Amino acid sequence: MVETPVKVALLGCGVVGGATASGLLTNAAAFAARAGAPLEIQSIVTLDPESVTDPTIPRTLLTTDPHAAIQGADIVVELLGGIEPARTAILEALHNGASVVTANKALLAEHGPELYAAAKNAGVDLFFEAAVGGAIPILRPLRESLAGDRVTRVMGIVNGTTNFVLDEMATSGGSLSLDAAVAQAQELGYAEADPTADIDGFDAAAKAAILASLAFHTPVSLSDVAREGIRSITTDDVAWATTTHHTIKLLAIAERTEQGISARVHPALVPNEHPLATVHGAFNAVWVEADAAGPLMVYGQGAGGTPTSSAVLGDIVTAARNRILGGAAPVETQRADLPILPAEAAESQFQIRLMVEDRPGVLAQVSGVLADHGISIDSVRQSAACHDAAGSGASVKDAESVGSATTHLLIATHHASEQAFAATLAEVSAQEPVREIVSCIRVLSM
Ligand code: HSE
Repeated sequence: MVETPVKVALLGCGVVGGATASGLLTNAAAFAARAGAPLEIQSIVTLDPESVTDPTIPRTLLTTDPHAAIQGADIVVELLGGIEPARTAILEALHNGASVVTANKALLAEHGPELYAAAKNAGVDLFFEAAVGGAIPILRPLRESLAGDRVTRVMGIVNGTTNFVLDEMATSGGSLSLDAAVAQAQELGYAEADPTADIDGFDAAAKAAILASLAFHTPVSLSDVAREGIRSITTDDVAWATTTHHTIKLLAIAERTEQGISARVHPALVPNEHPLATVHGAFNAVWVEADAAGPLMVYGQGAGGTPTSSAVLGDIVTAARNRILGGAAPVETQRADLPILPAEAAESQFQIRLMVEDRPGVLAQVSGVLADHGISIDSVRQSAACHDAAGSGASVKDAESVGSATTHLLIATHHASEQAFAATLAEVSAQEPVREIVSCIRVLSM
């Protein structure tokens, strides 16, 4: 055990910062034993000292000045969130020779290469396990445990709020609207008053950029990630998914194809037999496919102060050990520099739900359009009504309610590019017997 303490500056004392500070202060002996030296908090930055009411956190540690707080620190822990002043403080800390631990996914997704380069130049650690999946250990496994493998696909449920919303809609049997489920998420403290970052997929897209960068050793930024949130998902979509033995999930997907990397966020119909379909409530999970390892999945709490502090504290202990040993973990994540595909080149399977006239030749006409565009059909289902096969009371549309001369066509395709599919959909929509393209959702291929 080294006597000289490792000095820690904590920037941020909100839900995660407070849990991190409390963890370090109340388990000091255990952390000293694990790190190899005492971990001493030298300062805690909060813009609102009055908001810090945890009795385990001494008020003498609190300051409102990030610049002053990081001077002389060995490890700077950035939990402020947002771009500034977090970026400036991290760059200053790295320049000063401090190791940095952060949970700031937005900053990493927009300025990752700048921060990695600064850490590399300074020869110090930059760790950010808590930035994706909260408590779930996924970034270090991608960076270290899978360094001897070739990752081909990463698919994550990385936003707990949207998973909670979709799960509530599904378990309500199709009676709970998206807005009502979002209101529930807000009441329970999962969703912000303005739920845009979660519902429209921005949070998941930042995490997709980080996952893709690490999985494929290539800089991938937020602007490289195609993004579609869950705002358009209806109770009928959820009911039809149940009927066809799927569960709708918001997925962050990072995929390696022969042409390059595809990084995207969108709702997807996940077959119920896929492990990702079993992730309920606000939980997160990340599924990884690698050449030698095959499929892997990690699961856990993706948000919340105490769970997320687990990942932050793990990074602090690792950074402290490295400083005591006089080294730093390799930061390089950009050695492959693979091309990043434009959004329209990404390939998916799709399921479209059409309201069409119910008369001979309509199916042939619609399938002919798909064939003309080279899109192969995987399955077709025609039904005037959406009945939950398990009888759980999913929403039912009977023939009268939609007009006796119309019916639903549910068409699932094999893989097609976004570009080819968009062109096909436009032509399908223009067919005279097609009353409406009710929905179009991508399908997770097993
Ligand atoms: N708002 C995020 C979620 C947690 O709902 O999962 C922070 O990334």
